[in-house]
Amino acid sequence: MTNTATMKIADQEYSLPIIEGTEGERAVDITKLRNQSKGCITYDPGFGNTGACKSDITFIDGEKGILRYRGIPIEELAEKSTFTEVAYLLIWGELPNEAQRKAFSELLTDNALLHENLKNHFEGFPWNAPPMAMLSAMINALSCYHLELAAPCAILLEEAATKLISKVRTIAAFSYKMTRGEPFIYPDPNRRYVSNFLHMMFSLPHDTYEAPPIVAQALDKVLMLHADHEQNCSTSTVRMVASAEANLFSSVSAGVCALWGRLHGGANMAVIEMLESIREGGLSIKKCVELAKDKNSDFKLMGFGHRVYKNFDPRAIILRKTCEELFAAIKHQDPLLDIARELEEAALNDSYFVERNLYPNVDFYSGIILRAIGIPTNMFTVMFAIGRLPGWIAHWREVNEDTSMRIARPRQIYCGYQKRAYVPIEQRP
Ligand code: CMC
Repeated sequence: MTNTATMKIADQEYSLPIIEGTEGERAVDITKLRNQSKGCITYDPGFGNTGACKSDITFIDGEKGILRYRGIPIEELAEKSTFTEVAYLLIWGELPNEAQRKAFSELLTDNALLHENLKNHFEGFPWNAPPMAMLSAMINALSCYHLELAAPCAILLEEAATKLISKVRTIAAFSYKMTRGEPFIYPDPNRRYVSNFLHMMFSLPHDTYEAPPIVAQALDKVLMLHADHEQNCSTSTVRMVASAEANLFSSVSAGVCALWGRLHGGANMAVIEMLESIREGGLSIKKCVELAKDKNSDFKLMGFGHRVYKNFDPRAIILRKTCEELFAAIKHQDPLLDIARELEEAALNDSYFVERNLYPNVDFYSGIILRAIGIPTNMFTVMFAIGRLPGWIAHWREVNEDTSMRIARPRQIYCGYQKRAYVPIEQRP
């Protein structure tokens, strides 16, 4: 196969190299096009056809519904691994051996506490502050408390990464406690990652919450399935901020803001709001599907569709099964699960969704699991952020270690006014 592409602009031909990834993905390398063509750039709003970097972390084949972290299929990881092991895999590139796993786990345990002054920042937020706003602000505030780790380089990454992965749970749980007016519950060093989080969320000073193992396992799986998804909006944000040599905490804080949006991580809340609305009679399943198809309405079927997957999202398949197993084990019932199943069936049998390859994505079932665990809806996107953290850290590391990376700086096609004169205020219409 030829390894160059020819581009013809007016009468001039340009020979552009084709680069190929390990899974056969190909890209036309246009890095020299602007110089060679004296000013011509490519135009790709939304970056649907743009490879912004080379990456070794996650592989997705959207047509076949394949997702692999560092080469390992997500289905295998979901069956055999844990969130913290996957975090290690994503950040360091290999599964940990026993000594590495133990050391990583100890670092997570040792770093769970927040600086007492940092804890006081919560008092500055109103009781009804959105948890994602608090999360982003508090992660950025970590830069103030760990100045040595806020350096714009990867030297102390192990320490910074474990601090972040461990403390993010404490921040999330404390923000929940703050909104409820309940006392903060400190992390317990004898608990594993997820059960410690659930303890900080749901224990009270006089009443210790013990999560049933199946509940902790389900949440562990939710986090693991969110752990990375290559160049999505929030990860690209982290990479872009990192490319300016911003520190890990501030880069990740920016990623949290991007994730907050309804079309990205915020969709898990929006799905539940949509299902609630159907349950309460504000919407019917038929109306939901009709509205989603109506181009004059901005309504979308939340939890459906994906920029990359044009087949089933493999994470949604695992989560649907996890949801059913959890519900059976804890004898939980939720009318929203029945509504979700019916809605899924209606959409999958509708030509609009079939023709556009719109399938349930990771957010369609995650919210129903989180509800069953007792996580309030406004914390769903925070759970996504805790899960996505290892991926963001791995990408931050990749940007920092790639000596060929330049600051991310897209160009534009300017479509505004051409040069014109300044009009004094008394002459303006
Ligand atoms: N409901 C109705 N129509 C849809 C939907 C939807 N959920 N998703 C896509 N479409 C339509 C879209 O309007 C377009 O129609 P047409 O060809 O007639 O113009 C067609 O399907 C193709 O859309 P697309 O180009 O594949 O969509 P995109 O890549 O621009 O957007 C998306 C991807 C995820 C933002 C979009 O599917 C969406 O808004 N879904 C609902 C929100 C959601 O569930 N987001 C979570 C995504 S997964 C987790 C994450 O990454 O955060």
